[in-house]
Amino acid sequence: MLEAINISKSFPGVKVLDKVNFLFYPGKVNAILGENGAGKSTLLKVLTGVYCDFEGQIRLHGENMQFKHIKDAQHAGIAIIHQELNLIPSLSITENLFLGRELHHSLGVLRTSEMESVARSLLRRVQLEKDPSTLVKNLKVGEQQLIEIAKALLANAGVILMDEPTSALSDSEIDNLHRIIQELKTEGKTIVYISHKMEELFRIADYYTVLRDGITVEAGEMKAVSEAHLIRKMVGREVVIRPKGQKCKESSTILKVANLHLQHPLVKAKNVLHDISFELKRGEILGFFGLMGAGRTELMECLFGMVPDRMSGMLAIDGKPCQFNSPKDAISQGLAFATEDRKMEGLVLGMDISSNISLTTLKVTELLNTDQERQFAQDYIRQLAIKTPSEDQFCNNLSGGNQQKVVLAKWLATKPQILILDEPTRGIDINAKSEIYELIQRLANSGKSIILVSSEIPEILALSDRILVMAEGRITAEFSAGEAREDDLLKYAI
Ligand SMILES: Nc1ncnc2c1ncn2[C@@H]1O[C@H](COP(=O)(O)OP(=O)(O)OP(=O)(O)O)[C@@H](O)[C@H]1O
Ligand SMILES: [Mg+2]
Repeated sequence: MLEAINISKSFPGVKVLDKVNFLFYPGKVNAILGENGAGKSTLLKVLTGVYCDFEGQIRLHGENMQFKHIKDAQHAGIAIIHQELNLIPSLSITENLFLGRELHHSLGVLRTSEMESVARSLLRRVQLEKDPSTLVKNLKVGEQQLIEIAKALLANAGVILMDEPTSALSDSEIDNLHRIIQELKTEGKTIVYISHKMEELFRIADYYTVLRDGITVEAGEMKAVSEAHLIRKMVGREVVIRPKGQKCKESSTILKVANLHLQHPLVKAKNVLHDISFELKRGEILGFFGLMGAGRTELMECLFGMVPDRMSGMLAIDGKPCQFNSPKDAISQGLAFATEDRKMEGLVLGMDISSNISLTTLKVTELLNTDQERQFAQDYIRQLAIKTPSEDQFCNNLSGGNQQKVVLAKWLATKPQILILDEPTRGIDINAKSEIYELIQRLANSGKSIILVSSEIPEILALSDRILVMAEGRITAEFSAGEAREDDLLKYAI
């Protein structure tokens, strides 16, 4: 259906794709695998007219294509769900869905109610229970991802390119997306699918192509290969992530939370968090597992002083009761919070890597791009293997996974007493993941305390000394490392 023939693409100072070849089949899920910065997103942007300055050929249905603009690819029936969400926060769901393809009456008046009703049925199809008039800024990342998917459904494209569509979704949302993909397959649509989650690729992909440093290494049928084989092709070595066997030694309590409640932002009589109590020990990695909407992010926002007006309950650090009226208060008490939404809250995309990393550690007056700041950034670029020509690269030119590494670097740099990590390895490849796990573990070994929020069970099991499960704003279970099993976590999360 779709072919990429000898495609090369460079950016100043880097050759990102070097004569790559891809074949994508109709009625199939065609996976692209590769490490962070391998060139996966760049390929999709070439295929959809985002980048026109490349060498090589694109063929659709055997016909040579020349996309000069995104619209050309759209007209040819190619839709893309970008890795970095492209919705407009201040517009409603309906307005976002119909952006650029609004329905008009003959006199130019918008057919609002018709658009609303189409939006409503699309929301049903992706199983998102929201009113179409909801503003996108009030949706969580995972919900926004579903809107992107609805948008591709609305375009009714023959080829749908999905760049890490599940990186922000929890397991049940992933099932939901897979169901939609199965439907699209039976309609004969060509799906191109990028994911760092091996387990899901084995569930839904029919074919794969491995991209390594801008070169196509291998292609074939998924059912003919093993996970270990694919990882070797991608990374060049074996990587296995194992559950942690034992919890760390008992130590003193650094953070105590008692009877915390959080009011709903709109409905005053309703609570989003109910009677949350727990303790965090020094040097401990405390995992919070739950499905999307369980209230984990809201809880972290409470701990970080982001919603002082709506919360009640007791917080104590080192036995001293404290109250945070802003994130600034929380930071001054040694807290750090790497949020789940790197684009909105995590990075200043229009600034370079070194300025982003030093944002959290330097006072405003010190932000002068000094040698010290560069040195500091270079250290983290090395430690986290951030793929970039230099520390002067703007963050919006980094691949998704490498942006995520900058978010982590920025907060690791504060050397906090308590580090809250909300979905820290979203979009990070398996090799980098195992290195980041080591880094987090080293931090804990040095006496720092870590709260880990993750929807990935293997991640929770690999890192946590203790796991708290949340569902519908409540803590529903507690497990220690070694004792938790996947089924139990899921049972209490539901
Ligand atoms: N606009 C740009 N300017 C300069 N360099 C860029 C630009 N876009 C991408 N790159 C570089 O090209 C390389 C490939 O990036 P790409 O986004 O295609 O990676 P990816 O395989 O999608 O990785 P990830 O899994 O992290 O999303 C990276 O080194 C990135 O820094
Ligand atoms: Mg990418």
